[in-house]
Amino acid sequence: MRSILVTGAAGFIGSNFVRMLVNRAEPVKLVAFDKLTYAGNLANLDDLLKKDKHLVFVKGDICDQSTLERVWDEHGITEVVHFAAESHVDRSIISSGPFIHTNVVGTQVLLDVARAKKVDKFLQVSTDEVYGTLPYDQKEVMFTETTPLEPNSPYSASKAAGDCLVRSYFHTHHMPVLTTRCSNNYGPYHFPEKLIPLFVTNLMEGKKVPLYGDGLNIRDWLYVEDHCDAIWTVLNKGRFGEVYNIGGNNEITNRVITETILREMNCPWDQHVTYVQDRAGHDRRYAIDASKIKNELGWTPKHRFETAIKTTIQWYRDHEAWWRNVKSGEYLKYYETQYVNR
Ligand code: NAD
Ligand code: TYD
Repeated sequence: MRSILVTGAAGFIGSNFVRMLVNRAEPVKLVAFDKLTYAGNLANLDDLLKKDKHLVFVKGDICDQSTLERVWDEHGITEVVHFAAESHVDRSIISSGPFIHTNVVGTQVLLDVARAKKVDKFLQVSTDEVYGTLPYDQKEVMFTETTPLEPNSPYSASKAAGDCLVRSYFHTHHMPVLTTRCSNNYGPYHFPEKLIPLFVTNLMEGKKVPLYGDGLNIRDWLYVEDHCDAIWTVLNKGRFGEVYNIGGNNEITNRVITETILREMNCPWDQHVTYVQDRAGHDRRYAIDASKIKNELGWTPKHRFETAIKTTIQWYRDHEAWWRNVKSGEYLKYYETQYVNR
């Protein structure tokens, strides 16, 4: 049986990926591996761990070689899907150290263990942010897999460094690697420091939503289940050494995202939106050309933004205990640093 090490499995996308494979009853063993940083939450996997005997959880750090080796041998790991990362741009602006440690050094340690253990497949989950920013008024220009890497934040720089290491292990060591680069995700279990869950939960708490700069920055939004399905497709059908862009063909400004959420939650703009100082180095526009994964592997997104955003908002209404628990403790200190006096 395939035995897949899923790093960062207690985070937003990792837990959705595990959930998808368990729900589909894919015939694989899953080892959910996570350090449980502020962003990792075992509550994201609890119900799955209770019901599926092919899923196990191991608390561990990808920077820790000996733990990885032990887990490898104990569970007969054959493949890796590498989600684990520090993932929030604003935190990388406050302090970049943890980003270099996990996203660069951690990826190198994981690659070395995987290489020594002769892994069958190693999939690096990356981001469109490694390509930098796009011109605002040339809508035909999008990120392709050959767009040069021009990361603009410490987060995207650390992800680009991880991607380069993965690439180098293919060329130098002939390791069976795959890389995916996806646009912005939204959906259940999204940590409420990112735009959509922050705004939805702030409104549920009766707080204002902080829109950076002029609110006209553009992201391409993809429902998390579509991303997970794309990763599974690449893991099973992708060509080693290749990069696959994943996107929703769904460019939206932050203002329109905000209007959509406010409308859905019956909150008038004037009472609930506050413009705050822009993010330093704020990338203006991301847009993905996902034709390679479509033409080569047959993947396209299945969810439409108009309905999936409603499902997402409803999920936060139905899981108030989950996000209230997350929005406490360390989160409050971060919120102060990030938003007060901005
Ligand atoms: P997340 O912050 O919600 O989850 C990251 C997980 O990694 C957490 O559970 C955390 O505990 C774990 N982790 C962090 N450092 C670790 C370490 N040293 N060892 C083991 N585990 C560690 O992030 P996410 O949004 O789920 O993103 C997952 C991956 O997908 C990241 O690599 C990110 O770069 C990439 N990605 C995210 C998006 C997005 O929109 N969220 C888009 C494209 C790509
Ligand atoms: P975010 O969810 O942090 O994702 P990323 O920076 O990785 O794209 O932010 C999405 C967009 O929303 C980005 O243009 C920054 C903006 N934004 C705000 O306007 N206010 C906020 O409080 C946050 C967190 C983000």
